[in-house]
Amino acid sequence: MVDTTPLAKADPQLFTLIQNETQRQEFGLEMIPSENFVSEAVLEACGSILTNKYAEGRPGRRYYGGCHVVDEVERLAEERAKKLFGSEFVNVQPHSGAQANQAVYEALLDHGDVVLGMRLDQGGHLTHGSPVNFSGKHYKIVAYGVRQSDQRIDEDEVRTLARQHRPKLIVCGASAYSRQIDFAMFRRVADEVGAVVMADIAHYAGLVAAGEYPSPVPHCQIVTTTTHKTLRGPRSGIIMGQEAYAKAINKAVFPGLQGGPHMHTIAAKAVAFHEALQPSFKQYAKQVVLNAKALADELARLGLSVVSGGTDSHVFLLDVRKSGVTGKEAESALDKVGITVNMNTIPFDPQPPTVCSGVRFGSPALTTRGMKEAEMREIAHFVVKTLENHKNEGVLQQVREATRELSRRFPLYKHRLVRE
Ligand SMILES: Cc1ncc(COP(=O)(O)O)c(C=O)c1O
Repeated sequence: MVDTTPLAKADPQLFTLIQNETQRQEFGLEMIPSENFVSEAVLEACGSILTNKYAEGRPGRRYYGGCHVVDEVERLAEERAKKLFGSEFVNVQPHSGAQANQAVYEALLDHGDVVLGMRLDQGGHLTHGSPVNFSGKHYKIVAYGVRQSDQRIDEDEVRTLARQHRPKLIVCGASAYSRQIDFAMFRRVADEVGAVVMADIAHYAGLVAAGEYPSPVPHCQIVTTTTHKTLRGPRSGIIMGQEAYAKAINKAVFPGLQGGPHMHTIAAKAVAFHEALQPSFKQYAKQVVLNAKALADELARLGLSVVSGGTDSHVFLLDVRKSGVTGKEAESALDKVGITVNMNTIPFDPQPPTVCSGVRFGSPALTTRGMKEAEMREIAHFVVKTLENHKNEGVLQQVREATRELSRRFPLYKHRLVRE
């Protein structure tokens, strides 16, 4: 790329910042499980002139003129999402995963209703009932977690809490849970107590679409997801589900919560769904899981503790206490060597969430770069060396050189850089 682009000329300061971030992404190892690298086609749609168009309402029933083209864009996105996940209905307008969840709560619940969701400190998401989030503020939250013995979702606890508290909505899905979720079990429990189940597959969506993780669609009345994690689309959300809930959910999204849909993002979602429908995406998702397993297995072989002993997906938690560091220190040391992760509480963590005893790893972004099991094992060694030498700047410098060299072998957005 040259530094004579319209942005470079109009706003060199911002152009430089984007260059700096492109450098960071290009020459580091991105291992945050909720991040990925979108294709040039997704970027093009996302940066298109569709950003100019207001289109409040639904396709064919808008509150603005001139919507005949964007109607087609949105219908295409809807058709592709339905095909990808096999759902009866879809709303592709939510701006994000949190807003998708909020719309479902708005559609189904009154303030004060009981919701059963997964604890944030044991793998759930803020929107599943955290007291600092709208979900915890507006609804009466009852939370389930994982068993201490094997760090897996405690089905007995889910059932007991549901029988005791009779929730109107049960939320399953997670941000930091590596194992398969038994969506059928959640539905059985919900049926027993007259609740509706919402599965939030923000993390697993790409794997679900590719058949590499169980689908909640046949079991759960409503399924929400982000589109930017394993699904590898633009930063956004969608809501799917059974037709019976379509009207209430559509109304909750607009006019309930949002104004005009972001048509450029909806177009980019349509591109990402198209990409995810291709056989190459199935191959990608398979490799994402193989890579996460290879990394977790190698870290365990090198003597570290992986929460629940491994992973069935793209993500896992590493308990870093054996290395004599906190999650916060581990995140910071790994950042210095160019491995980007986030500190995370582990189940029953003795540390507060600002310190944590764990770090969350994910394979989606590096798999997009083409890395396979061999590179994951190489990275496991970098991680161990970094944690063991987290105060030794010289060793950290050596590891930084090695991660840079590895990233150079798998170019990403190199053509977008003015200089390396
Ligand atoms: C399970 C889950 N749901 C919802 C969200 C929220 O998505 P967003 O950041 O797009 O609002 C996340 C994001 O990390 C998530 O992990």
